[in-house]
Amino acid sequence: MRSRVILGVALLALAGPLILAPSLAAGPGDPIVAARQASMKEMAAAARAIAEMFDGKRAYEPAAFKAAADTLSARAGALTGEFPQGSLGAPSAARPEIDQARPEFEALARHIGRLADALAIKAENAPPGLTADMRMTGPPMDGGSLLGKRPGAAEADPARMPAEHLLHLILQDCTSCHSKFRRRAE
Ligand code: HEC
Repeated sequence: MRSRVILGVALLALAGPLILAPSLAAGPGDPIVAARQASMKEMAAAARAIAEMFDGKRAYEPAAFKAAADTLSARAGALTGEFPQGSLGAPSAARPEIDQARPEFEALARHIGRLADALAIKAENAPPGLTADMRMTGPPMDGGSLLGKRPGAAEADPARMPAEHLLHLILQDCTSCHSKFRRRAE
């Protein structure tokens, strides 16, 4: 029950910018900016597809699940290279702060990359139907933001988390990075 609520909130957070923000890439934009915005949109579509399968809003299909997980993994893995110096600030929504906080930005990118890789490995052997062990049983725990650090939980191994749990942690990383490094649409 609780997990459905959290997922709903995470999806709202995803949907907001998609619906409200006019595309900044419209017009003769910087190709680096346009490419990373397209990459972000692909990640959003992939995350949404997986979330909807877990939510029962879209039919679960192992091949579609795998394709979406592969997209997340590939796009998340490319993140660090997509924000070079000189491509930050308006008209892009990437904050210039990325440059002043590279280690933090890259740590977030590595974190989401690690989670997305773990999800893609799981999706490799996706069963024909959603199974109970793919679902999470409680709120997402990464020793992280929702519950505060639990002793011993900090080094949670993504490979041992249910797929749905990984998805939640991935969505948390989207939100964490956006709240620090992405300019809000006015
Ligand atoms: C490490 C930081 C970081 C992570 C992680 C991240 N994003 Fe982003 N995202 C950004 C930044 C910065 C921008 C603004 C890019 C620009 O306008 O140049 C952005 C922009 C976007 C956009 C708007 C693209 C457009 O057309 O303007 C969407 C949608 C988006 N992200 C979705 C996601 C989703 C979904 C995830 C997680 C699966 C995610 N992002 C993870 C930093 C991140």
